Amino acid sequence: MKKKILVTGGAGYIGSHVIKALGEKGYEILIYDNLSTGYKELVLYGELVIGDIADITVFDRVIEDFKPDAVMHFAASIQVHESVLNPLKYYRNNTINTLNLVELLLKKKIRHFIFSSTAAVYGTPESTEPVSELSLLKPINPYGASKMAVEYMLKDLSPVEKDFNYISLRYFNVAGADQEGRIGQKYHEATHLITRCLKAAKAEISRLEIYGTDYSTPDGTCIRDYIHVDDIAEAHIVALEYLFKKSINDIFNCGYGHGYSVREVVKTAKEVTGVDFPVEEAGRRAGDPPYLVADNTKIREELGWKPKHDDLSYIVKTAWNWEKKL
Ligand code: UFG
Repeated sequence: MKKKILVTGGAGYIGSHVIKALGEKGYEILIYDNLSTGYKELVLYGELVIGDIADITVFDRVIEDFKPDAVMHFAASIQVHESVLNPLKYYRNNTINTLNLVELLLKKKIRHFIFSSTAAVYGTPESTEPVSELSLLKPINPYGASKMAVEYMLKDLSPVEKDFNYISLRYFNVAGADQEGRIGQKYHEATHLITRCLKAAKAEISRLEIYGTDYSTPDGTCIRDYIHVDDIAEAHIVALEYLFKKSINDIFNCGYGHGYSVREVVKTAKEVTGVDFPVEEAGRRAGDPPYLVADNTKIREELGWKPKHDDLSYIVKTAWNWEKKL
């Protein structure tokens, strides 16, 4: 019998790549998405139900009818800057909605839960070593705090709800797109570095601004761990399969374990696109840690995750193929 997976936010960027991976594996999928930042056309497999997780009565009925074996929860608000301006939106959409969802799963005796967390829970790491899952959690914005609150909630729940198991995946800088260009990132307003480089290459924005060149890093710009979205999707598959086999409650970083500076990303984007787009050195953006790289030992050793696309050119190339089609 095919296992049934319910995916909230499955019409979004990361969710849609996970749907593709689940579909290719033959899972039966139901997507629940309010399409606030998702798009129908990104959903390659499964049935899409348009609805909001805040609408708990409708969601209750959807779960009752579908009877999932596991739930993957992507639906969330994810803009750091917006979270600073409107923190309550983040605590409502990310923390309270997840609490209500988990309560519903307990009521319906659904035992497997995968939660989308973020490297933003680490805030500004004190050293330039890759951060492990045991590093101090010190979010510096409401987005990170709203996700950290859920992690604490799940951890506190585990000793009392022994039949309920979860894995939280902490994403680092997710980028890139489907190799065949079927799906990719499609945001109303692009804020991420790689996407903005590509918009500059398309002359959709006049120039790429580098936010801060005086950081204590080798070239003065911030370093991030860019991970291809299909490798993130694969992390969800291994996590899900592990949850079906073992009763664990755990947290894993999702990154490659090494990073690139903003200048290195800009250079790669120029090479891949063949466009020498204008670049301007600007001031620092508030809340940017200088260095944020995952220690990925745990997910590799414990879940057997093997990334396939640890290659910045490939990441930018797939994103560029997609971007040209938009
Ligand atoms: N940057 C620029 N110019 C731009 C856009 C970004 O210089 O036009 C820089 C940023 O200052 C940063 C780096 O590029 O140093 C990466 O920025 P992104 O906006 O692409 O990504 P973030 O590192 O800010 O965001 C990621 C995740 C968030 C998470 C955060 C934690 O996308 O979900 O890391 O720090 F919260």
